[in-house]
Amino acid sequence: MNLRLLIVGASGQLGSDVTRAARSRPGMDVVSLSREDLDLSRSDEIAGILGRRDFDVLINCAAHTGVDSAESDIAAAVSLNAHAVRELARACREAEARFVTFSTDYVFDGRADRPYAEEAAPRPLNVYGASKLMGEALAAAEWPEATYVIRTASLFGTGRLGRDGGNFVETMLRAASGGRTLRVVDDITMSPTWSGHLAPATLALLETDAPPGIYHLAGGGAASWYELAAAALSAAGVDGELQPVSVAEYPTPARRPAYSVLDCGRAAELGLRLPSWEEGLAAYMAERGRAVGLSAPVGPSP
Ligand SMILES: NC(=O)c1ccc[n+]([C@@H]2O[C@H](COP(=O)([O-])OP(=O)(O)OC[C@H]3O[C@@H](n4cnc5c(N)ncnc54)[C@H](OP(=O)(O)O)[C@@H]3O)[C@@H](O)[C@H]2O)c1
Repeated sequence: MNLRLLIVGASGQLGSDVTRAARSRPGMDVVSLSREDLDLSRSDEIAGILGRRDFDVLINCAAHTGVDSAESDIAAAVSLNAHAVRELARACREAEARFVTFSTDYVFDGRADRPYAEEAAPRPLNVYGASKLMGEALAAAEWPEATYVIRTASLFGTGRLGRDGGNFVETMLRAASGGRTLRVVDDITMSPTWSGHLAPATLALLETDAPPGIYHLAGGGAASWYELAAAALSAAGVDGELQPVSVAEYPTPARRPAYSVLDCGRAAELGLRLPSWEEGLAAYMAERGRAVGLSAPVGPSP
């Protein structure tokens, strides 16, 4: 019998790639719910809406992902990243379905000098990270038997192209094509991840006998934001001027960990390993070139 997947947050970067990967995978029946079908900010409605659905696995790709805006709107971040996640886990328990939800490298404080393994102690530096950590804990408390928390990092995907423009790579390409020198932070190191690599790995995890718990899944290798920007410009053939700066010179509302590279050892033990971030970037660039409305590889924002 086919695995019945219910995907929440399907219009986002990761959600659109998970939906696409699941639809092209044999043995999966896929239903995607939009925000109109299920508004997660109304957490009291989640149980009723999901109670009318049949599913074996619920994959939650929705989140409040505004890291800086979360600092001034704590309630919105906690509502989506914690309360709603708990309600989704509870609905999965009622349905005896597995629950997959995504978390972040921003649960860590960045003081490490080697990649963070799943069991490393979290200590978020910002509201977004704290709200995601709360979501992890509430989901695991609600449905420990079948909750899978996948921590990932620095996502880029084509899912939101043509809407809000969407991710760091796009921001850099747009700004560079405007001809100005870009000052990009070079003392924050992380694991850039193409959502097109993460999506099939997530589905593959579900096809293993993996026990529930926390898994890290991120692009291989590590890069600073400056290195990612430089690689993106080079891949797009854009001659932008880039200037490395320190985070002290470029303060943002949310503090970010200086080093948040993820050690994806648990998934690797199951034979699951994402390609390097450079391969992810190359695949992303090829895909964005093919995307509707992006006939030119780089263009100014509409
Ligand atoms: N982006 C990153 O760099 C990054 C890094 C580490 C971890 N993560 C985690 O990875 C996951 C996927 O991130 P992403 O980058 O794919 O996110 P994204 O592109 O920002 O997409 C977020 C999704 O959440 C939906 N959503 C927002 N508010 C909602 C609400 N009230 N009710 C229902 N749906 C709502 C959005 O729907 P609309 O389209 O209708 O707004 C969209 O589909 C998230 O858990 C995120 O925390 C992301």
